[in-house]
Amino acid sequence: MSAVAGHALSLRSISRRYGDAFAVRNVSLDVASGQFLTLLGPSGSGKTTILMMIAGFVEPTGGRILLDGRDITALPPERRDFGMVFQGYALFPHMSVAENIAFPLRVRKMGRAERDAKVRAALDLVQLENFAERKPSQLSGGQQQRVALARALVFEPSLLLLDEPLSALDKKLRAELQEELKALHRRVGRTFINVTHDQDEALSLSDSIAILNQGHLIQVGAPAVLYERPATRFVADFLGKSNFIEGEAEATAGGFLLRRGAARVVAGGAARMGRTLLSLRPERIALLPEGAVEDNVVEGRIATWSYVGAGYALTVATADLGEIHVNLPAWRIPVSPAVGLPVRLGWSRDAAVAVAEDAA
Ligand SMILES: Nc1ncnc2c1ncn2[C@@H]1O[C@H](COP(=O)(O)OP(=O)(O)OP(=O)(O)O)[C@@H](O)[C@H]1O
Ligand SMILES: [Mg+2]
Repeated sequence: MSAVAGHALSLRSISRRYGDAFAVRNVSLDVASGQFLTLLGPSGSGKTTILMMIAGFVEPTGGRILLDGRDITALPPERRDFGMVFQGYALFPHMSVAENIAFPLRVRKMGRAERDAKVRAALDLVQLENFAERKPSQLSGGQQQRVALARALVFEPSLLLLDEPLSALDKKLRAELQEELKALHRRVGRTFINVTHDQDEALSLSDSIAILNQGHLIQVGAPAVLYERPATRFVADFLGKSNFIEGEAEATAGGFLLRRGAARVVAGGAARMGRTLLSLRPERIALLPEGAVEDNVVEGRIATWSYVGAGYALTVATADLGEIHVNLPAWRIPVSPAVGLPVRLGWSRDAAVAVAEDAA
């Protein structure tokens, strides 16, 4: 692939309304050249609609789309020239793998010799050199998926749109193709916009993640920022799992104190006053051995536990804070888990972050 940079894309307050209902509402988003952006959100949150508006198949009912600063809102899809892989990856069943990949080049009236060379390079890229003559029906799901990717990449689009390209695959194959997609993105240096339901995929592949809910963009940022500093309850809950603790906050030196009934929780960061919601990740909580101290200590009893391979997932019933979810690697659990077992939970003051309650 030649070293053409990816396009930079800006969505300026785009909306799509169907009758009275908004599929997408006032979404503004900047995607830098060469970035891997993931749209993440529950079913019906507007991910496909945003992708279709970028591709030009769905017309926004409001707002503008800019490509490298140029307004393309009214440009027909064929003149945008973006690569696309959609849900279900429909290959042409009567064509061989090579013919499928050659198709976008034929449409563009490219000569035979150049076309063959590009098809070979694209097959190399997705590591299917030896499958050129097969029909799609003679390929596994993952191989078909790679053909669809090769077909989307072969004409060297500077923007690639991917709508859950890996969702039909089993976990192991999906993980392999995620690695390949990441490597591919590094190799070709184009702008990728990926849609997924899979939070792990979003976290591991993306330079930036945009979280959507009910057509609204809730938060956008680097994966670690979103995970460590979720802005709202929805983000904390959707990206990973969280415990939520609500109470009355008062400022302290270097943070704040949250009161909830008889309980006190100390937290770091900017001082807060009044009604406050804290998000506390289950993996930030330890089971304290006898005599150990921590910024926050809560006593309780194991209510449920399950072994999840990499460790244990517990729920601990506490008098002060209700049920608390705890995830521990197996080597950090000082006892054999059993229902009813008394335990002491501990976490540091920087483990909990204040998040906003979701807008109604
Ligand atoms: N052509 C249409 N007519 C009416 N409503 C539509 C149309 N297309 C989408 N919608 C609605 O817009 C909302 C967003 O749909 P969209 O397909 O963008 O969601 P999504 O985030 O891609 O969901 P999924 O994860 O299930 O693919 C949904 O409520 C959907 O029912
Ligand atoms: Mg969709």
